[in-house]
Amino acid sequence: MQGPDDDPVAEKVPESGFPTTAEVVARWRPNPLVDRLYDDLGRTLDRLRTYLPWDSRGRRVFEDRGLVLVPSGFYYPIPTLEDIEDSWEYRTEMPFLDETIFDRALLAAELERLMPFAAEFNPPEEGDLDHPAEYAWNMSIFGWSDAIAYYSILRERKPRRVIEIGSGFSTLIATQAMTKNGSGEVICVEPYPRAFLHDLDITLVEQPVEVLAVDWFNDNLGPGDVLFIDSTHVVKTGSDCVYLYLKLLPELRNDLLIHVHDVHAPGATPKSWLVTHHLYWTEHYLLLAYLIENPRTRVLYGSVANALLNRELLEEMMGGKTAIGGGSLWFEQAGREPAER
Ligand SMILES: C[S@@+](CC[C@H](N)C(=O)[O-])C[C@H]1O[C@@H](n2cnc3c(N)ncnc32)[C@H](O)[C@@H]1O
Repeated sequence: MQGPDDDPVAEKVPESGFPTTAEVVARWRPNPLVDRLYDDLGRTLDRLRTYLPWDSRGRRVFEDRGLVLVPSGFYYPIPTLEDIEDSWEYRTEMPFLDETIFDRALLAAELERLMPFAAEFNPPEEGDLDHPAEYAWNMSIFGWSDAIAYYSILRERKPRRVIEIGSGFSTLIATQAMTKNGSGEVICVEPYPRAFLHDLDITLVEQPVEVLAVDWFNDNLGPGDVLFIDSTHVVKTGSDCVYLYLKLLPELRNDLLIHVHDVHAPGATPKSWLVTHHLYWTEHYLLLAYLIENPRTRVLYGSVANALLNRELLEEMMGGKTAIGGGSLWFEQAGREPAER
């Protein structure tokens, strides 16, 4: 029997998140041995079809290997390739264009306000991803319009405090902007911190956000402060996103500026994220449901929204430094006193 080191099919899963498209293509090049293994797997699954996935032993065979076996069908949350291909979400360019959420003029006015601060933000092309001295454009999981917008919004608004839920490269931008402001504090809620976060001038709370009480947020976020959300993006039983949108956001007492990441609305999530990367992110659906007809909220900035609705202005804000790209969405939320409920 072959061991993992001499098995030509054994995959090296990168520790740092999901692989890039280039890595996926390199890994999945035609390989007759892989074809044979898939045939064997197909035969095994056919024989076990009556047990799998209902038998918990069957589930564990997959879960012990970092996989979850879910039946396909309309009662189940993971779309098939056919569901994705046929989805109504991909029939128009902006399936989620609701003008009460994405107000082109309001978004344009915010871009104008950010412009002078965007001019200050000039990161280097390349930075060390493990030991970064500062944000650089190659930190593309938080790039590129998102980065320039985050910096500029913190410079324009000068919050007393930023709470980041899900930290990493974005934190480099937050600390840079707060340093330039000459005041302000960054608190990071990050259960699995990258090593470099320990070296930054931040308060690090190494906990999943859903264990933190709503009161903790209300005690720490004053009027005009920022709640930055960039965590799992997944709505499922027990997830941080369910806690964030159904328990935390409605209960926030003060007027805040709130950020959510990887939102492609008013467009749809790129098909390749689902087909190639198996990212079935659902946070944006809950976010949009939260924003529709919500008199407490007003969307100020969207990287995708501006790319679709105010492209020239967004280009101007980018200043030719790097390409348009990203998925940040920022909205203001009016506070609510507990007595009003
Ligand atoms: C997309 S990454 C964050 C990226 C970060 N903003 C950056 O720019 O590098 C998502 C982060 O959410 C964190 N995370 C996972 N589960 C979480 C939870 N329950 N509460 C808060 N953060 C969580 C992960 O550890 C990960 O660092």
